[in-house]
Amino acid sequence: MDNQYDFDTLCIHGSSPAAHPLNALNPPIFMTSTFSFADVSTAKAIMNFEQEGFIYSRGNNPTLKLFEQRLATLERGTDAVAFASGMAAISSVLLSLLKPGNNVIVHKTLYGSSFTVAHNLLPKYDIDCKSVDFTQPKMVAAAIDGNTAVLYFETPANPNLAVIDIEQIVAIAKAHNLRVVVDNTFATPYFQRPLSFGADVVVHSATKYICGHGDALGGVAVSRDKDYIQKLKFDYMCELGGVMSPFNAWLMLRGLKTLGLRMRQHEANALKLARFLQAHPKVTQVMYPGLPDFAGYELAQKQMGGFGAMISFEVQGGLEAAQKIASRLQLIQLAVSLGDCETLIELPAAMTHARYPQEKLSEFGLSPSLLRLSVGVECVADLIHDLEQALAY
Ligand SMILES: Cc1ncc(COP(=O)(O)O)c(C=O)c1O
Repeated sequence: MDNQYDFDTLCIHGSSPAAHPLNALNPPIFMTSTFSFADVSTAKAIMNFEQEGFIYSRGNNPTLKLFEQRLATLERGTDAVAFASGMAAISSVLLSLLKPGNNVIVHKTLYGSSFTVAHNLLPKYDIDCKSVDFTQPKMVAAAIDGNTAVLYFETPANPNLAVIDIEQIVAIAKAHNLRVVVDNTFATPYFQRPLSFGADVVVHSATKYICGHGDALGGVAVSRDKDYIQKLKFDYMCELGGVMSPFNAWLMLRGLKTLGLRMRQHEANALKLARFLQAHPKVTQVMYPGLPDFAGYELAQKQMGGFGAMISFEVQGGLEAAQKIASRLQLIQLAVSLGDCETLIELPAAMTHARYPQEKLSEFGLSPSLLRLSVGVECVADLIHDLEQALAY
């Protein structure tokens, strides 16, 4: 039944039950840690998955279930697992697909904590990490060996907006029987659905556009493989314990209602800001997939329904000038995170990506002076005015 509706409708109604309890228009928040049973045989039947039901909120909860199913619908998956944060989702998915002796191949530029998990944490468990430029699929194919189990990347990548060809990476993975995991945080399912290109698992920091209001942390993993999701939920999320709270799931459901609306406004603003920056004499480089002379433009047009609202740029005067701009801005806030209604700016090398080896930043596609903007939904004229005055340093 969900198939007949447009994305915007599914953001509001997707996977809804016929009625919420007491015919409430909106789902109640099931703030309960546990659920009681009529008798032991019912408890056993539910615990053995012979009967539908809830046991304990670290394993499942009706508010979480609705959020998971809605996200699965929006990503064109079959099922999903909600997590306490994006990093809980990413680390649990990687642990679930890898074992000692394996290696994972990751794109050279990753969100800072994902970089740390792949490069520092997994090797402690005898899982190697190889860093490759995924914009050159041949290099990915060349890096695969008999122990490779997973290919992992973000597209567009945080923070340099590199666009990676999901279909080509999936084709390479299928030829070697590898799993492909895509972090879809920047694009959201509104602009890009990696499962439709054959990816095995999509992960999100739901803290960002999915929540949309900068007031809750969350993560989610979606797949078309129901058995995998069952394993991820009960053998990893539930056992490692990185569960989303029912209140956060409710905030995510509330945020999702306006995902399409917000993404259209975010993107319209971003396009205008990117063009403004490109024309500014003090700006030396603008990275935005919606600019025709950006390296990922054509691929973004092919695999995305829009270009998103993350922009990175460099200015004349390097690090010192970049720091000045960040502190001269008045409306635009200097803060990590992204996808909020508020426009945020940051210096990835010093903030979100500070744990990269600083002496090797350029090897991983970063520079110390790069500024990253998460374009919000304010009036774009006000944003341009703020950037104009900050750039008059
Ligand atoms: C692309 C990307 N993935 C994952 C994360 C981690 O998400 P969280 O902060 O919800 O753990 C972030 C956080 O900024 C991110 O930008």
